[in-house]
Amino acid sequence: MKIGVINQVKDNEKRVLLTPADTGKLIKLGHSVYIESNSGTGAFFPDSLYTEVGASISTSSDILSEPDILLSLNSNDPDIINKINKGKTLITNIPLSLNNEFANNASKQHITLINLGTIPRIARAQSMDILSSQSSLAGYKATLIAAQLLGKIFPMMMTAAGTIPPAHGLILGAGVAGLQSIATSRRLGAVVSAYDVRPVVKEQVESLGAKFLQLDFGEQNLEDSGGYAKEVTNDMKAQEDALVHENVALADYVITTALIPGRPAPLLVNKDMVSSMKPGSVIIDMAAEMGGNCELTKPGETIISNDVIISGPINLPSQIPNHASQMLSANIISLLKHFIPSTELIIDLEDEITQQTCTSHEGINLLENLLNATKDLKVSNNE
Ligand code: NAI
Repeated sequence: MKIGVINQVKDNEKRVLLTPADTGKLIKLGHSVYIESNSGTGAFFPDSLYTEVGASISTSSDILSEPDILLSLNSNDPDIINKINKGKTLITNIPLSLNNEFANNASKQHITLINLGTIPRIARAQSMDILSSQSSLAGYKATLIAAQLLGKIFPMMMTAAGTIPPAHGLILGAGVAGLQSIATSRRLGAVVSAYDVRPVVKEQVESLGAKFLQLDFGEQNLEDSGGYAKEVTNDMKAQEDALVHENVALADYVITTALIPGRPAPLLVNKDMVSSMKPGSVIIDMAAEMGGNCELTKPGETIISNDVIISGPINLPSQIPNHASQMLSANIISLLKHFIPSTELIIDLEDEITQQTCTSHEGINLLENLLNATKDLKVSNNE
């Protein structure tokens, strides 16, 4: 098949969805690969590396017309669909708020749409999951930013000028980014505590050498069938606030990563808690773009409030573009193998990965079907 990569470097994105090495693999499998000029430059993959493995370098006008399958890392403008010829496939990451509009436009234009942002967190799909691969890198980078902003060192240091105790890190949310943040903190020598509403992560947190702060929510199961967290109730929230308040006051740095899919980020650190922190403490709010886990976060900015440095970084993986692209590219190769098992694209709507990601095919808005099916399921569960 003809597979094309759209240049996203022009939108301040440094990552690219296919590395030259993986492009070569696709070409060996018999596909043709078109790379929009300079797509890889931000990740240190110049056009010459792609031509060396047999790819064609395209201009921005050809890239939308020639390939059968278009790869675009992030699509924020549903109008892109109107620029793609009927019958083609777009594989991209779509913001939740635009899912509907994309699916609508794509079904009207007879474009097959595959959303990289909704790959289910099941074992079979792990190798395709761009959110997980990128969150892991982001957790690493957020920890380095905390180390950079903190006026203290992370490890314990015994010197002739005295002994410096290790920094205390608090990680709120121990999912993909949180666990990587714990691991990176520990490698840098910090002492770490972590809290998550899902008690199942206790073992993982402890295996990384951190202390797990656990609340007793009784019989309540705060994990859904997809392995994601559910929202806490008001009673639980009071317990959670007390635990977080006590622990932020002890921490030198806090990294917040709490997420409930499809919901605004849960508020974990309020103004009062910030004012109880030590001067010079640091908060890195990874959920800044989703509304923030800290009440004072300003997305994309670093501010100082009450002598506490609060940073709300956006698109951290793009700050590690080379390895982030390598991981994205591995995810894409795995996804393409799923959708193109031999020589053509197969949309098998019985398959869970396809059901969750393909929102338009052959002129049908599949997102509407998926939402209706979820509604029916909820009704029958309640019955
Ligand atoms: P994840 O779903 O793997 O982890 C989120 C964790 O938060 C889960 O373990 C969940 O149980 C926990 N959680 C939910 N509610 C909680 C609460 N009230 N208290 C404590 N824990 C709670 O998500 P992932 O992939 O680790 O992403 C984490 C956050 O980082 C998301 O908001 C994501 O959008 C953001 N992110 C930000 C990036 C950036 O560049 N700033 C890059 C990648 C991810």
